[in-house]
Amino acid sequence: LRTADIGSDTSLWWAVDPILMQPTAGKVRLMSPKVDKRIVVASDVAQLMLAAQDGIAKADGGVALGWAAGRYASVTNLLATYGYLVDGVEAPDAPAPWQHWGPVAWAYHMSLTHPGAHGTSARVAPEQEAATRPSSFRDFGDAPILLLPRLSPRGDMRFIDVLERRRTHRRYVPAPVGLEELSDLLRYTFGPLRFADAGDLGVMQLRAAASGGARHETEAYVYVFDVDHVAPGLYVYDSLRHGLVSIRPGLFREELDALTYHQGPALSAAFGVVTVAQSDRMSWKYRDASAYRVLWQNVGCMAQIFSLMCASLNLGTSMTGAIQMEAAHAALGLRTASELVTFAMCCGHPALREDGQPMAVDTPNTPFRP
Ligand SMILES: Cc1cc2nc3c(=O)[nH]c(=O)nc-3n(C[C@H](O)[C@H](O)[C@H](O)COP(=O)(O)O)c2cc1C
Repeated sequence: LRTADIGSDTSLWWAVDPILMQPTAGKVRLMSPKVDKRIVVASDVAQLMLAAQDGIAKADGGVALGWAAGRYASVTNLLATYGYLVDGVEAPDAPAPWQHWGPVAWAYHMSLTHPGAHGTSARVAPEQEAATRPSSFRDFGDAPILLLPRLSPRGDMRFIDVLERRRTHRRYVPAPVGLEELSDLLRYTFGPLRFADAGDLGVMQLRAAASGGARHETEAYVYVFDVDHVAPGLYVYDSLRHGLVSIRPGLFREELDALTYHQGPALSAAFGVVTVAQSDRMSWKYRDASAYRVLWQNVGCMAQIFSLMCASLNLGTSMTGAIQMEAAHAALGLRTASELVTFAMCCGHPALREDGQPMAVDTPNTPFRP
């Protein structure tokens, strides 16, 4: 981070702001959302860039760094040509959208658009791979389990009606969701429906949702508030046995509401689901930053199944991307840093307007410019 303002002093070189420096194998990669080209430089050039945070003299700046005048002049001129050194008044912002999302988000985007360039690890030996291959299923051992019914799905709504009914509902009426409905929602969103033999990759599950490489790393943590025949509490869904394993009993509405920045739906919903990605299931097979993007794309596919299932059962759902991630990691009792909290959803009987639409939606009643 730059510690001084450029001002109008053109006798100094300044490092472009923001700048990211990634040390790699004795060299340093320079990147900035304001510069088209990413370049790799020797470590003493990176040191020059660090010194340029406070401005370095164009004329005799090499002296302070212990550089020969000729090299100092040619290196600084080259860095200036690329745009890594600037003088005078600098363009105030990085280009959209990075001026809002920041250099770290930009660097992540670059790692996706330039795969393999950013600290991805080499593949390990095949024999090691087989030994370390994570299971496609989470093993709950012989933990006591509340087994759920295995019946035909409760809903029989036409698919097109399901699509038209899906809406975000943020308020629910105080009525329990049935055990069979909870069972349907978990089974069709998070449960395996078929299995596939993938050779060296093992036997994989196939769910209603698509998933990159059929890794199906998403697990469901269920906050039960008001579900028939299920004691309130926090559970984790065991998809192989199709049941709920208790994490802790109790009515934790306020806890889920706090984890989702007090947005409200958890205070009236019948139950909530916080999803967790077992990321090693994904990273074991895909050893590139783009797998992280696919992991989040999988969350979208999963959430769509959940919300459409809710609509098909005449239930409402709300989705929340705003989650206190660290607090949620602790609240769910997650065991490792590779378990990533990804999404929060609530479900219940929605409070509706007279025309069946969610309370929060204002339908326009005067002409408007689209
Ligand atoms: C990834 C994602 C994150 C969301 N996060 C929130 C949220 O934090 N709070 C909220 O009230 N709604 C959230 N929503 C719901 C959207 O606001 C909602 O989908 C949108 O207003 C359109 O309304 P509809 O779902 O009824 O079509 C989220 C939706 C998605 C897909």
